[in-house]
Amino acid sequence: MSQEGKEDDESQAQELPVKFNFIPESITSPFIDIFPGQNEGMVRGEPGGFVFSREYGRRANEIYQFKPRKDDAWVCTFSKSGTTWTQELVWLIANGCDTEKAKQIPLQMRSPYLEGDYLISPEKMPQEIRECWALEALTKRPSPRVIKSHLPFNLLPPQLLETSKVVYVARNPKDVIVSNYHHFKLFKFHDFKGTLEDFANYSMDGQIYYSPYFPHVLDAWSKRHYPNVLFLFYEEMKQDLRAVVERVAAHLNQTVTEEQMVRVLEYLSFKNLASTEAAGKEKVKEMGIMNEDAGTFFRKGKTGDWKNHFSPELNERIDKWIQDNLAGSDLKFVMELDKQD
Ligand code: A3P
Repeated sequence: MSQEGKEDDESQAQELPVKFNFIPESITSPFIDIFPGQNEGMVRGEPGGFVFSREYGRRANEIYQFKPRKDDAWVCTFSKSGTTWTQELVWLIANGCDTEKAKQIPLQMRSPYLEGDYLISPEKMPQEIRECWALEALTKRPSPRVIKSHLPFNLLPPQLLETSKVVYVARNPKDVIVSNYHHFKLFKFHDFKGTLEDFANYSMDGQIYYSPYFPHVLDAWSKRHYPNVLFLFYEEMKQDLRAVVERVAAHLNQTVTEEQMVRVLEYLSFKNLASTEAAGKEKVKEMGIMNEDAGTFFRKGKTGDWKNHFSPELNERIDKWIQDNLAGSDLKFVMELDKQD
């Protein structure tokens, strides 16, 4: 690059607006007893209180300086909000509804996880996944890239919303807590040992990865009218997936024929995606990142499962947490659909 070009690049580089500090209590009792998989510790960012892995704290600026492209599609969510489902959908729309290719290549290879390489120390990450998710690999990846991230917008590259197409998905916080609880039990790098109530308390206190929940969602909600942002709810995907496929296609300037629509809807069904997971079980076992006796990633795929998990007392506290955090906002969640498959 010419000196001139280099200077241009540098003058455009913006400084990461958040400072990350190690949380000492994240590696001592009682926290580490119920999150034993997180023995590398966590960091908290200020301002904002964003909580994530220590590895991310060391390298957050690399992600902030990552260059989005005009023909990228990004899937951004708070974790357990229907990310995987939406990635599959966005990938299909960005790739001519090629359901055959989607069946052949695992999603994590087709749609890399931006900060996935920062969840744990690189040497603990399976090599195959590292090679695909490392930021350098992402930089070289041909277009169109479909990139997943759970980071809040203020930690993503500052040019993102004016450069790339972004699909943000939100899910009601009660189902997110329940789904995340199972997720934290499933993955060895969390290995959560506490109760659902413990997990809900840590979630409300903003002490689990990707917390705090409300600033994440409310910031995206405030940007829902940006031309490059499509804001979706998990519950609307459950209610009318066909309409959501059409909206995603319009957002990415693509058209979907009726024949493609039928195939896409079939591919995106919970049953189909869950069966793909079941088929790849041996491979996941080999990688050694999941606890084998802790269920599956495609768990229930329903709205309102929180009703099967929360005591009346816990539910009351969660209602209050939601009410306090949504005061003054016009964001409303559907906590359970009247009808669902
Ligand atoms: P549950 O744990 O409630 O079943 P993420 O991909 O963000 O981690 O979200 C995972 C959640 O999305 C899980 O919720 C999973 O079952 C659900 N999900 C994945 N695919 C789905 C589909 N095709 N239909 C409905 N829900 C789906």
